[in-house]
Amino acid sequence: MKRILLVCLGNICRSPTAHGVLLGKIEDAGLSGSVEVQSAGTGMWHVGEAPDVRAIEAAKTRGYDLSGLRAQQVQDGDFSRFDLILAMDYSNYDELMIRCPEESKSKINLFLPFSGVSEVDEVPDPYYGGAKGFDKVLDLVEQAADNLVARFTERTL
Ligand code: 4NP
Repeated sequence: MKRILLVCLGNICRSPTAHGVLLGKIEDAGLSGSVEVQSAGTGMWHVGEAPDVRAIEAAKTRGYDLSGLRAQQVQDGDFSRFDLILAMDYSNYDELMIRCPEESKSKINLFLPFSGVSEVDEVPDPYYGGAKGFDKVLDLVEQAADNLVARFTERTL
């Protein structure tokens, strides 16, 4: 079992979107038994909340249901529990690297470059913008998830 943690700031916009999309594609590929996906935020403000309604609505139009997810904050134990910890932007990457014990730092990567998406390095934070920002998140996250699932299928990850 490969365990993957997707991380943003609030765990209500970007990482739950990535969580729902990656989970959906893993299920479609028949890999549910071999890959576990979770998401969390570096911040604690939204712990226990469902994803932002704009994220839920945007994902629904593409066939992903985020409504059952609940925000959680990254825990110290996550650095040993997960095999791969992927940050949505540099700021969250830096925060994870500060908190992570030395022996687990190699598990931490930036989500888009690690997933072979070369258009941009960061998933832009859509929280203070409009619906278009959430569509952009989905465009990037779907590409990244396709690439990750291809690597799981080929057993190169
Ligand atoms: P996320 O977006 O990190 O993609 O979940 C944000 C959610 C909440 C806040 C900022 C970004 N906030 O400042 O509360």
